[in-house]
Amino acid sequence: MKMRFALVLALSLSASAYAEDSAAVWKAKCKSCHGEDGKAETKMGKKEKISDISTEAWQAKHSDDDILKVITEGSKENAKMKPFKEKLTPEQIDGLVKHIRSLKAK
Ligand code: HEC
Repeated sequence: MKMRFALVLALSLSASAYAEDSAAVWKAKCKSCHGEDGKAETKMGKKEKISDISTEAWQAKHSDDDILKVITEGSKENAKMKPFKEKLTPEQIDGLVKHIRSLKAK
């Protein structure tokens, strides 16, 4: 019983820390190319013609699975988008998918 309580507690704590963590991971690992807002108005963004991932059109075109996959495996089209599976945990990658959704222009 004690164990189960600890587990539930840990899960609910990590859920509340999620959003904040993901923003921090985005800033640390993704912002340099994609920009804080996902518009890719960066040197690398312009050079590599990275899509503005905050637009409604981009968001509608890409499923959570597509996004998860490109973060995990990298992009086949452009090697500058590296796979992050060795650098981030699956939880962090999940968090980034949610973070990318939160960048959708309102
Ligand atoms: C060194 C620069 C760089 C960094 C750092 C980087 N990316 Fe990318 N990313 C790219 C490039 C270039 C592309 C375009 C790839 C293509 O054309 O398919 C891309 C594409 C993407 C796409 C798909 C865009 C599309 O139009 O299909 C997603 C999602 C993405 N990156 C997420 C991330 C996340 C999340 C991180 C941080 C963990 C990250 N990227 C870090 C350069 C970068």
